Amino acid sequence: MKFHIKTYGCQMNERDSEEVAMLLARSGHAPASCEAEADAIVVNTCSVREKAEVKALGKIRMLLAAKREQPARIVGVMGCMAQRLGESLVRRLRGLDFVVGTQRLAAIPAILDAVRAGKGPIVDCGERRLESEASLTHRAGGHSALVNILLGCDRRCSYCVVPLVRGREWSRPACQVLEEVGALVRHGVRDITLLGQSVMSYGAKQSVWEGAPASPGGYREPFPRLLEAVNAIPGLKRLRFMSGHPSGCTEELVRAMAELPAVCEHLHLPVQSGSDRILKRMNRGYTLDDYREAVRRIRARIPAAAVTTDIIVGFPSETPAEFEETRRFMDEIGFDNAFIFKYAPREGTTAAEWKDDVSADEKMRRNKILLEEQNRRSLQINEKQVGCDCEVRVEGVSRRTAARWTGLTRTAKSVMFEPFAGIQEGDSIRVGIERAMPQTLYGSVRLPGR
Ligand code: 5AD
Ligand code: SF4
Repeated sequence: MKFHIKTYGCQMNERDSEEVAMLLARSGHAPASCEAEADAIVVNTCSVREKAEVKALGKIRMLLAAKREQPARIVGVMGCMAQRLGESLVRRLRGLDFVVGTQRLAAIPAILDAVRAGKGPIVDCGERRLESEASLTHRAGGHSALVNILLGCDRRCSYCVVPLVRGREWSRPACQVLEEVGALVRHGVRDITLLGQSVMSYGAKQSVWEGAPASPGGYREPFPRLLEAVNAIPGLKRLRFMSGHPSGCTEELVRAMAELPAVCEHLHLPVQSGSDRILKRMNRGYTLDDYREAVRRIRARIPAAAVTTDIIVGFPSETPAEFEETRRFMDEIGFDNAFIFKYAPREGTTAAEWKDDVSADEKMRRNKILLEEQNRRSLQINEKQVGCDCEVRVEGVSRRTAARWTGLTRTAKSVMFEPFAGIQEGDSIRVGIERAMPQTLYGSVRLPGR
């Protein structure tokens, strides 16, 4: 069969889609060149905000409607919404062939076979994690890859649905992670992003280093130790991780970030609010002072580090004065970039029991202000790059114009430049920055080469 996977949501979902693609390819199926050509379509869904679910539901309904012309085509759902709504999706969406939860991806090939044999619809949203061998293999092509190190989440942020859909926190053994990264790098991958909901908690609850030799750098904490071991894999050029939490920004972590050449000068550290009262109600587990201290530590050792964040506006009971505190805090830290979200209640979370008392208009107003201010701030920060040479990893042709190519700096900034003959995705080049915009730098290639 030819399959197609449509992915919504975060990088964890991207990673899961890759895994399912590998599993299906191993079972003898082939990726379709486009959605229209697929015999089986899997929609990988996100639950973090209702909007994400509405979008995926719309897509699934459209695919099911098209099934009237192609009744043999299989349509299934995976991911966070599949886990959250489970069986009820089959009842709501007539013609849906399967629903697979976040811990059961490895069952998908067998489920496809069963559906083909007329045994559908099938629902598998069990809480028991099904280990997938595909996590040890590489995916074809590409110079960058995502690698899960910490699955699930044991934090209980009061607004967040993730712990309800991604299960208990579980750290993969370090040897498994290293084997996977090693295989990826042997197949040409140069940039690795280690993924976890609270990635720095890696190894906090399981022993992940059994039987391993001591750390040459003397790192004792499991996460910095993992960074050290991954950094040592020959051929790996860039190493990132996300998302961070201030409690993980220890002296050892910062030392690892500063000393290990592959580790990029970038940290995504969601703060969510600039009000201590709101942070407490969010159950985030840190104060603004803790956050300040984390950023101070990083900047003390890595002055060029880019710090990006997530913010929620209009959290239940957030007053205009508390919103102003968030504005001031964002200014104080000087974030390189920020993703701003309007609070929306999610069923099953603690905050959903509180009155969603900031009006839609007011959420919109707060959202707009933060976006505008962040754009200005990002522009100011980016303008400081004008006149500098940056190391850029080539991503490919720009989506906006074929005349330009794009790439990424180590600080995760997007750079546009004119290509040279023979340029390839994955090349490492130097670009002289000539112009800055809030989300993009523009420049000329200095030293073409690999
Ligand atoms: N409402 C709005 N934004 C949310 N996020 C998570 N849950 C919610 C919610 N209920 C945001 C957080 C998180 C990002 C991925 O999505 O900022 O860091
Ligand atoms: Fe990712 Fe969270 Fe969306 Fe799931 S709900 S896809 S973990 S952002």
